[in-house]
Amino acid sequence: MVGYAFMGAAHSQAWRTVNRVYDLPARARMALICGRDSGKVAEAADRLGWEAYTTDWRDLVNRDDIDVVDVCTPGDSHAEIALAALAAGKHVLCEKPLANTVQEAREMAAAAATAQASGVRSMCGFNYRRVPAVTMMRQLVADGRLGVIRHVRAVYLQDWIVDPQFPLVWRLQKDRAGSGALGDIGAHIVDLTQYVTGQRITGVSAVTETFVKERPLSAESSGLAASANGGDGQVVDGAGPATGPVTVDDAALFVARLDGGALATYEASRFATGRKNALRVEINGSLGSVVFDLERLNELEFYDATRPTAEQGFSRILVTEGEHPYMSAWWPPGHIIGYEHSFTHQMRDFIEAIATGADPAPSFADALQVQLVLDAVARSAELGSSWTEVEPALTAVAV
Ligand SMILES: NC(=O)c1ccc[n+]([C@@H]2O[C@H](COP(=O)([O-])OP(=O)(O)OC[C@H]3O[C@@H](n4cnc5c(N)ncnc54)[C@H](O)[C@@H]3O)[C@@H](O)[C@H]2O)c1
Repeated sequence: MVGYAFMGAAHSQAWRTVNRVYDLPARARMALICGRDSGKVAEAADRLGWEAYTTDWRDLVNRDDIDVVDVCTPGDSHAEIALAALAAGKHVLCEKPLANTVQEAREMAAAAATAQASGVRSMCGFNYRRVPAVTMMRQLVADGRLGVIRHVRAVYLQDWIVDPQFPLVWRLQKDRAGSGALGDIGAHIVDLTQYVTGQRITGVSAVTETFVKERPLSAESSGLAASANGGDGQVVDGAGPATGPVTVDDAALFVARLDGGALATYEASRFATGRKNALRVEINGSLGSVVFDLERLNELEFYDATRPTAEQGFSRILVTEGEHPYMSAWWPPGHIIGYEHSFTHQMRDFIEAIATGADPAPSFADALQVQLVLDAVARSAELGSSWTEVEPALTAVAV
């Protein structure tokens, strides 16, 4: 694994847990973790349960006994690490968004397709697909329970940079993060809604805004984890104004058309005061509607318009039965699960795919398509919200 902070910790927990919960054809051994600061990565290796640590990610790629490389770094290093790992024949799990640019994402998808021919697997970490209620949402749509999908309404809202004194961490720098709310949280709702509906976004009209354009410089660009644990993201003490420009969007809103005929709205913002990590998706179809809210992730609201009129209404399904996706290995019905379980489910599916020679999803090609949507949103916003088609992937990838 490369990176040991927020996602490093979430993924480590999942790697530690997955074989203790699920009966899988292969076992994960947590061999080597990489970070840039030897003291901090040594401490992280011990705390998170890794056998050894290194300060150079190339050590992961060069070791013969390592089969899987898990990329949990900011977007500016995804392409370099993933491409080297794939070239060395390692299976790669890469955090989202896949890359900082469409060009990088295309290279990664092409490399993944080449590696796939020799049995090397790759997957992008859109973990919310693996919340059981979200997986079930997709099944309801696929089973025709919603009929023809007319509307998709998706929001992903946070508020961690409302304070203009919050420092200029890596997530607020375009060269490190690629984009702001758009790529960080907007990417999740793009992937989630396309996954649930089975439809792809074909065109968008967007607005983006950077509300706070200058921020205090940070000692180390470490993002959310730093702000949460008081770690790296400290404001630099000392002389001078010590501020720098915010080069990403604070909020991105767009309307979209999907290739199955649905109309969609998306809102991704880090300025939704009071909203900490509020991801909500509602889908309206000709036969029913379904709603998912991450703050109540064990539940799904379902409106079945085929029921007698007198009995119609949104019903709350508690998605904790053994027959619900991923749930049979956990606890008795009604014993709820949480955020981190989505990562355990991600590792389960990845290990199973590797061990059985199947292609895991979302593939790098799927993640490239999300990147193309993000790119269309950014271009539309630059052009005064003009209607912008999503470019075709045009890659020789078997999806
Ligand atoms: N799936 C999700 O829900 C989710 C949530 C948060 C972040 N992410 C994604 O995960 C990735 C990491 O985000 P995070 O929140 O964990 O960031 P973070 O700042 O908490 O951690 C980044 C880690 O990468 C390390 N790092 C940076 N550059 C490195 C390099 N060149 N070599 C080795 N280590 C390096 C840092 O030291 C740190 O340990 C990003 O792509 C982000 O978009 C996904």
